[in-house]
Amino acid sequence: MSAATAGTSAVPQQHRVCSLAELAEDTALGVEISGVPVCVVRTGGTVYALRDECSHADVALSAGEVEDGKIECWLHGSQFDLATGVPLTLPAIDPVPTYPVTIDGDDVLVTVADTSPERG
Ligand code: FES
Repeated sequence: MSAATAGTSAVPQQHRVCSLAELAEDTALGVEISGVPVCVVRTGGTVYALRDECSHADVALSAGEVEDGKIECWLHGSQFDLATGVPLTLPAIDPVPTYPVTIDGDDVLVTVADTSPERG
């Protein structure tokens, strides 16, 4: 199979999502980056980013509560580890993707593979 023209691109790119000042401790912010819903969380002095979609059903994790390095899905209560995206409690059993976060001065940058479809 030739990979000369793949048709889709998935090049990781850093995107500025907000300033650190806009992200209060123990809060979650839901944003969309290149078509990907991303939940950005600041807790314990660290900023995390994970897909803003529970792996159990299509609801936003950013609407949940942040506590002790975890975010709790508001619908059925599964808790996800913010660093790994792994669910720590049922009913969710699949992890959610996580994304690298870089702090550049006061800017919060999240690296997401740009998978926006290109029509040809
Ligand atoms: S939708 Fe998140 S735990 Fe059910």
